[in-house]
Amino acid sequence: MINLVVLISGRGSNLQALIQAIINRTLDASILTVISNRPDAMGLKLAETAHIPTQVLNPADYATRETYDIALRDLLLPLQSDFIVLAGFMRILSPVFIHSFAGKILNIHPSLLPHYPGLQTHERVLQNRELSHGATVHLVDEHLDSGPILGQAKLSVLANDTASLLQQRVLQLEHQLYPYILQLLAKGDIVIKAGQPYTRDGHKLSPQGLHYPNR
Ligand code: GRF
Repeated sequence: MINLVVLISGRGSNLQALIQAIINRTLDASILTVISNRPDAMGLKLAETAHIPTQVLNPADYATRETYDIALRDLLLPLQSDFIVLAGFMRILSPVFIHSFAGKILNIHPSLLPHYPGLQTHERVLQNRELSHGATVHLVDEHLDSGPILGQAKLSVLANDTASLLQQRVLQLEHQLYPYILQLLAKGDIVIKAGQPYTRDGHKLSPQGLHYPNR
């Protein structure tokens, strides 16, 4: 059983997938609190419906990125959660935050990292006529959409795909991949040591992490 804090900024469909996996008992975890940087994030309602405590930390109340991140750190430190789960949290975290929770911050990104960090991943995948696309769960380091990869789920780009169709299919994969990887962490099948992911028997994960067995 692992304790999680989930950070969101918007819709919260990944948060909902985690809540559902916990209800279905396919994820042995508890969400201690959900924190949003936006008071209007739809995901806050999803958390409230699931009786999970929520908090809003509004950047407008802080002078700098660093003072915001220090406040966020001070909110999270006493909770001693096993992992901090970024689920559509649209802020870059400063080193002061990252270093306080080294090896404990996870992110999900809609591309096969290290390809296509940043925004508009689906558009760029189509422009470049890629044959494969997907989603990645990774540990967070100081750079954007970067850090050791825990797992990826892949799909084939189809001839008639649009950015919108790809976005929908990748999002469905995200909803499977995030609970899957968190459950591997909960069971001890993935172990984080000194900020690096290993298998249960001590082998370092490959650079692509584990492959979600959807195909
Ligand atoms: C997802 O596509 C996630 O990969 C990205 O932001 C989006 C969040 O969606 N980081 P939601 O708020 O979980 O619905």
